[in-house]
Amino acid sequence: MIEQLEELRARALEELGRIDDLTRIEEWRVSYLGRRSELNQILRGMGTLTPSDRRAVGQIANDVKSVLEGESAARRAQIETMLRQAEIDREHVDVTLPPRPMRLGQWHPLTMATRDIISAFRTLGYDIVEGPEVEWEKYNFEMLNIPAEHPARDVWDTFYVKTSDGASPGKMLLRTHTSPMQVRVMERRRPPIRVVVPGRAYRYEATDATHESEFYQIEGLAVDEHLTFADLKGTLTAFAHAIFGPERRTRFRVDFFPFVEPGAEMAIDCHVCRGAGCRLCKSSGWIEIMGAGMVHPKVLEGVGYDSASYSGFAFGMGPERVAMLKYGIDDIRLFKNNDLRFLRQFAQ
Ligand code: PHE
Repeated sequence: MIEQLEELRARALEELGRIDDLTRIEEWRVSYLGRRSELNQILRGMGTLTPSDRRAVGQIANDVKSVLEGESAARRAQIETMLRQAEIDREHVDVTLPPRPMRLGQWHPLTMATRDIISAFRTLGYDIVEGPEVEWEKYNFEMLNIPAEHPARDVWDTFYVKTSDGASPGKMLLRTHTSPMQVRVMERRRPPIRVVVPGRAYRYEATDATHESEFYQIEGLAVDEHLTFADLKGTLTAFAHAIFGPERRTRFRVDFFPFVEPGAEMAIDCHVCRGAGCRLCKSSGWIEIMGAGMVHPKVLEGVGYDSASYSGFAFGMGPERVAMLKYGIDDIRLFKNNDLRFLRQFAQ
């Protein structure tokens, strides 16, 4: 019986050593230590032994039992550790690997140019206001001294909006410029006024490298006592220096807009040829960047201002054009076709 027990122990331990999963170790436990195991059968057969043999055999049987229990618990712990380690290895993350580059968004070049322009005027004490893109004809034209049938209306090819309501106080349109905001601001405020108005405008015309039917403008208006053309020139020159650099020169020439008198066009010296003449400036050495002028007395009177006490100047520019000059962009349509290869060049 003792030999039988020893053989059993050797066999059980040998088998245990080869087990490497938890299911099989459970099967092993049932067959060597369970109720119907060989060991139990041997123990049960001990009744036939003499008391002293029984003691000796019992002792060995208990030893075998506790060795098997101890060894199998140890083996189970070992297997569990192995499995856990395998899982850790499988899920391993190498924190020393370089990260994939993260793609951050960035401002659109037109947004950057608009912000630069606005902040140049903010420094000079201007407020920022915005107004409606769908506008009454009255604000877009009439109150700006452009009566119906006036030939100047041809300059602003207009998208009209159908109004279903017969009681509307006139025709509606998509504003052709931001100038109607001059009138809206003056109606709401009293001088001194200093505002810039960024916003979208629309013209019914064909698109090409320098024209879009939907585009931006930035309007400016200053009204106060004693404002003169010198204030206009000084203000717009300060703006040009802030945006294009302090070394740039400006030129003002007479131009016509019904809502200003005198009217002017402002140009800056061509940065490509520095005045020598090239394709960009069409050999003139100058690049026009905005329309401007002293607010027409009729416009002031129209909003109830006394044009003998108050004077003002106004200006309007296209931020697309400013951005094109600032960043050397040669087609206005690039701003809107969402080509990331174009847009990513303007990372801040
Ligand atoms: N509104 C004019 C345009 O769209 C520009 C302008 C604004 C001219 C203010 C003079 C004064 O062409």
